[in-house]
Amino acid sequence: MDDLRIKYIDLIAGAADEGALEDLRVQAVGKKGEVSLKMRELGKMTPEERQVAGPALNALKDEINSALAAKKAALADAALDERLRTEWLDVTLPARDRRQGTIHPVSQVTEEVTTIFADMGFSVAEGPQIESDWYNFDALNIPAEHPTRTEMDTFYMHRAEGDNRPPHVLRTHTSPVQIRSMEAQGAPIRVIAPGRVYRADYDQTHTPMFHQIEGLAIDKDLSMANLKWCLEEFCRAYFEVDKVELRFRASHFPFTEPSAEVDLRCSWKGGTLKVGEGDDWMEILGSGMVHPKVLQAGGIDPADWQGFAFGMGIDRIAMLKYGMPDLRAFFDSDLRWLRHYGFAALDAPNLPAGLSR
Ligand code: DAH
Repeated sequence: MDDLRIKYIDLIAGAADEGALEDLRVQAVGKKGEVSLKMRELGKMTPEERQVAGPALNALKDEINSALAAKKAALADAALDERLRTEWLDVTLPARDRRQGTIHPVSQVTEEVTTIFADMGFSVAEGPQIESDWYNFDALNIPAEHPTRTEMDTFYMHRAEGDNRPPHVLRTHTSPVQIRSMEAQGAPIRVIAPGRVYRADYDQTHTPMFHQIEGLAIDKDLSMANLKWCLEEFCRAYFEVDKVELRFRASHFPFTEPSAEVDLRCSWKGGTLKVGEGDDWMEILGSGMVHPKVLQAGGIDPADWQGFAFGMGIDRIAMLKYGMPDLRAFFDSDLRWLRHYGFAALDAPNLPAGLSR
């Protein structure tokens, strides 16, 4: 029995892996293992002999079993250590810059603009792209016979035969989000609403789907002066220049009174845009004081509240800032264009670090 003990304890200690260990278990304490065979011999012994040999064999069997279990655990530990040593990863390494995909300039500029307005206390609002006639037009003081409805080259949705309700439209601007936000939040309110808009138009600077960003601020005593300050701050931050000069040109929009189109002083010398200097003026947005009827449509009493609104083409200001000459290329999904004009995925725009690194 001592020979068996020494033999198996030694072999178990030297086993290289779980397979070898299992072979040893079968050899020693399996059904036909050496210890098991010895146990069968107990039947041929005298009761006195059996009283000594029985417990001794059982003890040997237990000892071998626990040696097997201990070795199994030790092998598992060693295997885990080896895995931890080889499957090692330094999570503090800097992320790899720019691989296949890039952030589209429209997404980048949307982020830049919302970042700037967020800093001025505006929160982001959204509305549906399929909009009712009422939100897209009537609520914005554009009645059925108003010429704006045809000027906007509206896409109308289909209505079933015999259904005489006005059809829904693909929204022609982000202005309906003004109404939806006023309804949802009341006054005072400060929101910025970026999104897709649609018009039947197609050339170098027009695509049937494009992007706008709408701004709306309503409070007790907001005026054109507040609008001007906000837009100046915005242009300074967006074009990343210290000095900007804006020109407010009287205009007309049904949803604002008074209305102004805003031009930015710039120069195109040498074919590149410089903001804040030169003798050119570039139109960048439409704006004005929110019309009392629009406040009413949004459930806000114009006797108590007033404010300003503006709407801007995201694609257009992206083209200006990043020097992209043709809007149609924005939506061609050409990888070469995206690699050239796209932005690194991990550089989210923020004011302290810079908008467009
Ligand atoms: N909705 C207008 C458009 O698409 C742009 C606009 C002009 C929005 C003046 C406004 C605004 O909020 O006040 O052409």
